Amino acid sequence: MGGSSLQLLLTFFLFLLCMKPALGNYWGVGDANLGCKECERRALIKIKEDLIDDYGHLSSWNTKEDCCKWRGVYCNNHTGHVIQLDLSISGVEPLRGKLSPFLSELQYLTFLDVSYNDFNHTQIPKSIGSLSNLRQLDLYNANFGRNIPFQLGNLSNLQYLDLGWNNFNPQNLEWLRPLSSLCFLRMSSVNLSKVNNWLEVVNKLPHLTSLHLRSCNLPNIFPIPHVNSSASLDVLNLSYNNLTLSSSILEWLFNSNTSVVKLYLFDNQFQGLIPDAFSRIYSLEVLILDGNEFEGGIPKSFSGMCNLKTLSLSSNNLGEQLLGIVHNLTGCANHSIEKLYLDNNHIMGSFPDLTTFSSLRGLWLSNNRLSGTIPESLGKQSNLEILYIDRNPFVGVISEAHFSKLTKLKTFYAYNNPLVFNFSSNWVPPFQLEHLYIMGCQSSSGSIIVLHSNKLEGEIPPFVFKGSHLDLSNNMFSKLALSLCEASNNSLEYLDLSNNRLSEELPDCWMQFEGLKILKLANNHFYGKIPSSMGSLIEIETLDLGNNNFSGELPSTLKNCTKLVFLDLRNNSLSGPIPMWLGRSHPNLVVLFLRSNHFYGRMPPHLCHLTHIQLLDLALNRITGSIPKCINNLISLTNTKSPNAAFNHSYALLSSRYVDQTIWMWKGREYEYGNILALVKGIDLSSNKLSGVIPEEIVMLDGLISLNLSRNLLTGKITSDIGLLCSLEVLDLSDNKLCGEIPSTLSLIDSLNSLNLRNNNLSGRIPTGPQLSTFTASAYKGNPNLCGFPLPKNCLGEETPQNPTVNGSSGDASMQDEKDGFITRGFYVSAAIGFVVCFWGVFGTLLLNRSCRLSYFKILNNIKDWLYVIGGVTMARLQRQLQS
Ligand SMILES: *[C@@H]1O[C@H](CO)[C@@H](O)[C@H](O)[C@H]1NC(C)=O
Ligand SMILES: *[C@@H]1O[C@H](CO)[C@@H](O)[C@H](O)[C@H]1NC(C)=O
Ligand SMILES: *[C@@H]1O[C@H](CO)[C@@H](O)[C@H](O)[C@H]1NC(C)=O
Ligand SMILES: *[C@@H]1O[C@H](CO)[C@@H](O)[C@H](O)[C@H]1NC(C)=O
Ligand SMILES: *[C@@H]1O[C@H](CO)[C@@H](O)[C@H](O)[C@H]1NC(C)=O
Ligand SMILES: *[C@@H]1O[C@H](CO)[C@@H](O)[C@H](O)[C@H]1NC(C)=O
Ligand SMILES: *[C@@H]1O[C@H](CO)[C@@H](O)[C@H](O)[C@H]1NC(C)=O
Ligand SMILES: *[C@@H]1O[C@H](CO)[C@@H](O)[C@H](O)[C@H]1NC(C)=O
Ligand SMILES: *[C@@H]1O[C@H](CO)[C@@H](O)[C@H](O)[C@H]1NC(C)=O
Ligand SMILES: *[C@@H]1O[C@H](CO)[C@@H](O)[C@H](O)[C@H]1NC(C)=O
Repeated sequence: MGGSSLQLLLTFFLFLLCMKPALGNYWGVGDANLGCKECERRALIKIKEDLIDDYGHLSSWNTKEDCCKWRGVYCNNHTGHVIQLDLSISGVEPLRGKLSPFLSELQYLTFLDVSYNDFNHTQIPKSIGSLSNLRQLDLYNANFGRNIPFQLGNLSNLQYLDLGWNNFNPQNLEWLRPLSSLCFLRMSSVNLSKVNNWLEVVNKLPHLTSLHLRSCNLPNIFPIPHVNSSASLDVLNLSYNNLTLSSSILEWLFNSNTSVVKLYLFDNQFQGLIPDAFSRIYSLEVLILDGNEFEGGIPKSFSGMCNLKTLSLSSNNLGEQLLGIVHNLTGCANHSIEKLYLDNNHIMGSFPDLTTFSSLRGLWLSNNRLSGTIPESLGKQSNLEILYIDRNPFVGVISEAHFSKLTKLKTFYAYNNPLVFNFSSNWVPPFQLEHLYIMGCQSSSGSIIVLHSNKLEGEIPPFVFKGSHLDLSNNMFSKLALSLCEASNNSLEYLDLSNNRLSEELPDCWMQFEGLKILKLANNHFYGKIPSSMGSLIEIETLDLGNNNFSGELPSTLKNCTKLVFLDLRNNSLSGPIPMWLGRSHPNLVVLFLRSNHFYGRMPPHLCHLTHIQLLDLALNRITGSIPKCINNLISLTNTKSPNAAFNHSYALLSSRYVDQTIWMWKGREYEYGNILALVKGIDLSSNKLSGVIPEEIVMLDGLISLNLSRNLLTGKITSDIGLLCSLEVLDLSDNKLCGEIPSTLSLIDSLNSLNLRNNNLSGRIPTGPQLSTFTASAYKGNPNLCGFPLPKNCLGEETPQNPTVNGSSGDASMQDEKDGFITRGFYVSAAIGFVVCFWGVFGTLLLNRSCRLSYFKILNNIKDWLYVIGGVTMARLQRQLQS
């Protein structure tokens, strides 16, 4: 009580303050240049006090400055009164809290927008009803709750009211009746299931032209108002309401002589034939019936809808012949229709002559059951801008004639058709495509041109190198050079020609495509040198030239491509030393594949500059020298935590993000990685001529999942700290000249599931441990001086091993194990270290900000400490073992 009377007092005080300047003006003593009124300034401060401004949007609301200069506050230039308040903030960084009742002090407000904030189910202040000058009120998507205050009905000047996407559940709409100036009303998602007279109320608003009641749970059956439609209603949006064909709203629409121009009824529950009666709404220009369950065709009566411009029936169950549908629209509608959406139905038959549809700008036929050939008459649709015929079993040849007069064509989707595209290479198309998507057809062209997975063959026509995105992958193109160099397009960002039959030298005109970010030419038959003009691609992030036949040295101009993230040159015949600049000039490189080429020379230490690298594959070359000690600089590999996000390039393709795909040799097999690529971290230096010892520093790379150094000339011992590589799943050191014992810490790597140490000079006892026990003798064979399980050879001073089936038997297996000496003191020590290392490996980084490595050393230095960490049971068993 005390609080609210205080508030009243304050309001009154502010009111007095607010009156003063007005009176002043009345008496001719006001100063129009004073700017913000003190009372309004205080009201704004009060409004701010009730808001939680997590992102500092209202930081300007604090200065001593004129409040008319605050963010979102607009004053009248002559009177200085606040007339507009725009607090609409992007939905990502909303204001929170509540909307203050002091809002009512801003008496001159004509415009108020608080959309996209988060008022956490609080109520719209009742005092809003006193803002009698308000003309536009936007509360869209602001998470207001409870009731809509009936005081809104006092806003008789209101023209625009948006209450959509809040949590309102009103019992009635009577408060709407006095809003006689209202033109636009949106109440989407307001639950109107109990408001049976909604239509009667809105129909009486004399100026209402636009009504949006999407997802309102509208009642299907309600009393139909006795007055005819408000003549003013132009736009009626009743989508997502589960309406049926027996709904009262249809009865009213069909019989009230309404003059609705745009009618949106998509995602309702209309089932059966499309009612003839839609054609009685003669005024209709836009009729959207998508996402229902309409069957059959389009009624003949629609031919008489002479104003119809857009007819959308996407995603229904229509199933007639396209020819019949076209026939049923022929009369008047065919001349007016500009956009016809029939995609995602079961429409059959062939592609008809549409030349009488003289206004046609867009035609959507995707994903139906259309077949046969495309008639050349298509080429006469001179207004056509958008054409979707993808995912239909059309056959035959598409030639230049099909496009002869299509001067306005911008978007053409024809993928997944067995169509053959046949253009002469000197054809100058009449259009400038922006989006061409022909993948999976047989040849092609436009801004997004996607023609992948067609059977397009021959020369890539020059006109296709337009727009921003060109995907001609998975076709049978064999020639590129001439057409590429004839074209020039700095806005081309994405070019994918992979998986074709391109067999030529790569043309040297890349300076004509300086905007390229992603270039994929993999899996072709390109040969010769990588052209030096590739150095002009200064924006390039992904360069994939793998699986071709490129030869010679890498051009030094590639050092200009400093934004490279993904460089794949594998399976070519490139040669020369790995250039010095490769490490230094590409600080962002995450993936580097030079696998299977003829690179020679020493292992370059400057590769250690690649601090973001996650996949480094230099296998199958002739690289000599030793593995550099600075390898621990590859800090991305030292991180067991979050994967690198660099793979998700900021390149927006059809509104999804581009993700690099690659293949990684994994346990002797090739795996293709798309999204999960970012999770894999590996080094593969196998099949080179590397010599010297494996540097100790390699154990710092504890994020490494796969390490393959096999088939080299490496010598020395395996570092005793190998167990620090606690993420490792694959370790292959086979076919080297490694000597000494296998370090017992190897048993600490719980994740290890593929181990190969074959054909070295390793000696001594094979360490034991739960993970190591899963490997068979083949992991170790070719090391004559190794002994112990799983090799048949016993170590000196040991008994003959028991029958090897012991491990497989259950029951008293542990007893057997103890007898076998399988569980040795070493096992418990290993298990304990394993537990501690993994515990700290996972939590240590989070809790203490200490790495896996530090904990490990700390533990080894302080054996008593780690003994405490072992759980009670293990402890007891360990003591038993130690005593025995
Ligand atoms: C008021 O002044 C601002 C800036 O001086 C100007 O942008 C705006 O158009 C003016 N408005 C009116 C209604 O004069
Ligand atoms: C919303 O309000 C409730 C109390 O009504 C409160 O518990 C909750 O923390 C608030 N949420 C936010 C995001 O402000
Ligand atoms: C609404 O208007 C009536 C009469 O015009 C007035 O008495 C009432 O105070 C107003 N309500 C609000 C909240 O301003
Ligand atoms: C809508 O309101 C009715 C009653 O007012 C209620 O039964 C129903 O659950 C509400 N629907 C939704 C989706 O909130
Ligand atoms: C429509 O009906 C479905 C189930 O039939 C229901 O899940 C959905 O909430 C309904 N939508 C509306 C807006 O009433
Ligand atoms: C009508 O509603 C649909 C779906 O709710 C929406 O996509 C469309 O933009 C709305 N139309 C207009 C003109 O607001
Ligand atoms: C409404 O209009 C129709 C013609 O479309 C007419 O037959 C009917 O009498 C009108 N009803 C009223 C109540 O005016
Ligand atoms: C239907 O409405 C139009 C104007 O929208 C009017 O000219 C016509 O007379 C009306 N017809 C009937 C029968 O009311
Ligand atoms: C054509 O219109 C007639 C009469 O409305 C209807 O029965 C038939 O199914 C329609 N045919 C097609 C293919 O739409
Ligand atoms: C590479 O960049 C240098 C300057 O950074 C420039 O002079 C040179 O022309 C560029 N090379 C190519 C091939 O674009």
